[in-house]
Amino acid sequence: MKYSSWIKQLSVREQASLLGGADFWHTVPMDRCGIPSVMLSDGPTGLRKMNGIRTIKSVCYPSATAAAASFDKDALHRLGETLGEECLQERVSVLLGPGINIKRSPLCGRNFEYYSEDPVLAGELAANYIDGVQSKGVGTSMKHFAANSTEIARMLADSIVDERALHEIYLRGFEIAVRKAQPWTIMAAYNKVNGAYCTENKYLLTDILRGKWGFEGLVVSDWTAVSDRVAALKAGLDLEMPGAGNYSIDKLAKAYRAGEITDDDLQTSATRVLDLVDKALPALKTAAPKFSKDEHHQVARELAAGCPVLLKNGGNVLPLKASDRVAVIGARAKNPLIQGAGSAQINTWKVDTPWQALERELQNLSYAEGYSLTSPDNVNAGLTADAVAAAKAAEKVLLFVSSRPEDACEGTDRADMKLPAAMNALVAAVCEANPNTAVILTTGSAVELPWADCPDAILQTYLLGEAFGTALADLLMGRVSPSGKLPESYPKAYEDTPCPECYQPDKNLNLIYKESIFVGYRYYEKSGTAVQYPFGYGLSYTTFAYSNLALTTKKFNADDEGAKLVVKFDVTNTGSVDGAEAPQIYVAAPTDSLVPRPCKELKEFTKVFLKAGETKTVTVILDKSAFEYFSAEMDRWAVEPGTYGILVGSSSADIRLEENISVTSADDLSYEADYRSLTPAYYAGNIRAVDEEEFLDVLGYDLNDYLPDPEDRRLTKANCIAQAAHTKHGAAVNNVLGKGFDMVPLPASLKAMARDTILYVPINKMVATSRGLLSDDMADAVAHYLNDGSLSETVKVFALGTPATLKNLLWPWLRKRMAKKDIL
Ligand code: BGC
Repeated sequence: MKYSSWIKQLSVREQASLLGGADFWHTVPMDRCGIPSVMLSDGPTGLRKMNGIRTIKSVCYPSATAAAASFDKDALHRLGETLGEECLQERVSVLLGPGINIKRSPLCGRNFEYYSEDPVLAGELAANYIDGVQSKGVGTSMKHFAANSTEIARMLADSIVDERALHEIYLRGFEIAVRKAQPWTIMAAYNKVNGAYCTENKYLLTDILRGKWGFEGLVVSDWTAVSDRVAALKAGLDLEMPGAGNYSIDKLAKAYRAGEITDDDLQTSATRVLDLVDKALPALKTAAPKFSKDEHHQVARELAAGCPVLLKNGGNVLPLKASDRVAVIGARAKNPLIQGAGSAQINTWKVDTPWQALERELQNLSYAEGYSLTSPDNVNAGLTADAVAAAKAAEKVLLFVSSRPEDACEGTDRADMKLPAAMNALVAAVCEANPNTAVILTTGSAVELPWADCPDAILQTYLLGEAFGTALADLLMGRVSPSGKLPESYPKAYEDTPCPECYQPDKNLNLIYKESIFVGYRYYEKSGTAVQYPFGYGLSYTTFAYSNLALTTKKFNADDEGAKLVVKFDVTNTGSVDGAEAPQIYVAAPTDSLVPRPCKELKEFTKVFLKAGETKTVTVILDKSAFEYFSAEMDRWAVEPGTYGILVGSSSADIRLEENISVTSADDLSYEADYRSLTPAYYAGNIRAVDEEEFLDVLGYDLNDYLPDPEDRRLTKANCIAQAAHTKHGAAVNNVLGKGFDMVPLPASLKAMARDTILYVPINKMVATSRGLLSDDMADAVAHYLNDGSLSETVKVFALGTPATLKNLLWPWLRKRMAKKDIL
């Protein structure tokens, strides 16, 4: 580390000052060594740079889910490079992304910001995105580390997840990207994992991230995610954002004096901050790249055209001909949902609407609104009648439906997996009026499609960014064949998900990951649950044939660390138009494996463009990791010897080629429990039947040992207001705040996010965020009141605990008011 000796010249407080931001978005400068302050900014699907309280205008690219649906590593690299250039132009040194949490359930409000339910897909795409951004001399911040798959109560919730699922599902994507791309920073999530906040989780931040994976960069907190700054530093959290100023510096200095933290603790993290800035300097010193927003808009369009997933195509509607008489139905055609809400929201430079784009393409167009965007859950008889009439009068119908904006929103989760009621009703009515209907579906996550049998075609666009309309027109007109694949399974109904009742936090704010490794297709396949559309699925205007699977060996020795398995096969475009296919390579573990295994797991994927009639040979290389599982007993990856299947498919459910391979390994599996008798339901992937005893056996520790005493429900400042609903004062405060938010004139998505954030933020985090305006004593006073303490005592503690900074701000104002009223 370049600054490791230099840092010793700084005082303890100076060192500590480097460990928090200068403000919301900047690091602290250190003039004495010529280290300036650098800026970190959100993305990750565009540049969300704040300029004061405004966000600058920038290009909005396809959201993470849409980008993942491209199954295209090169596209993610290009997206990263393009964003890197925008950061350079705006002098931003770290782009806060990509977000790669696993889509554990379709309900997560932030699913649109995440890639997949599969860690290999997420990790490989992330590695390419990171490499793309960083190739421009700009850093990334892979987030949110880790097991942050629920939004509600995210600042308090505890992800209770067994070691194996943690490594195989929730950490694996991070591991792949760290090993392949070394992001400059990693963002520690808000939540706890197995009892410890991610920001204070030494096991995650130091033992695994640095110890096992060799992470070389800096760990930054999610914004306000630090609960105990001293514990966080000891666990390996380098930079607290936004900076808490003297509040944290005082705590660190006090802990240093008390011998709780060492010079080494302070200096290691402070050096990482200086080194991060040092890495950013060369790019900052060079001239900003020159490009126009129009050029990047064109990139957004090209990237977007590779994302949408053709879920169904009867061939009667798509692709369109310029002479077709088409009814465009649905207000979303004129007002597309291009992105989700929250910290990923871009102040879009311009938006191509589908309607404008289609007007340029088609000579004979009509339009009907179909539903009201302000009340999409209420069927409007007049709008439906107009839509039905337009559908009847047309040859073909393009019917635009979408989820509600608040369904794709940070800080809150969806209540269900349904589309707005008026849109579901409209699809049924329009398809009955004209079966030659293509539904253009736009959501940030999997939704229930009760009407899937009715339309002739369904195209899932996902949140496609600002070039939505033009990219869509490229696909609808057949200039580009759809080539996206689902990066997540579409269950038929929410009740079919692995553990519908364990997605939300329980009464102790624990998130019980009862399904363990059986997430997404790993669960649906193992449990034999039929899905609407499987993982990896997506059609094209053309067809592809797979042939000539060849493996370099039929015997793989897993004890040979460098052993490689080369998998080759041919893909032929057998249709009459050009197109791209994303072949997926899965590995199936031995059917009689000792430890529970999914039926198959994705190990590689690629994307090939093929002209009509063309054949290409695809080559992918697998290594030992393709056969491994994580052994909690041995605390390491292990390989069970046996016969494995190498499966090549067009989706997880459409395997075209298959070969067996015999894998040898010296790993001693006698350490493992006999899961067949110990946890039979779990072994079979029958998560519904996993009882508490089985769950605890898989979890490996007794959760009951550290659950709070149910008799003692007193709150501390580490709790949030929502947890006080059982006390008289707490219920009243919850009620007032809940109602208050209903009255705030904000869009529904922002309202939900703001309400859930305020109700679920730990009281002491409000203090840390206030940069010295509030104090711990004030937080204690609030906790006292919520515990039904007297108002007079609350006011006294609050007043006595008010820091000078706040008093100095309030006094002049109070004096003025009191003087006016002649009180003074
Ligand atoms: C989000 C992060 C984001 C940060 C800064 C947090 O609330 O969880 O994803 O990067 O804010 O805006």
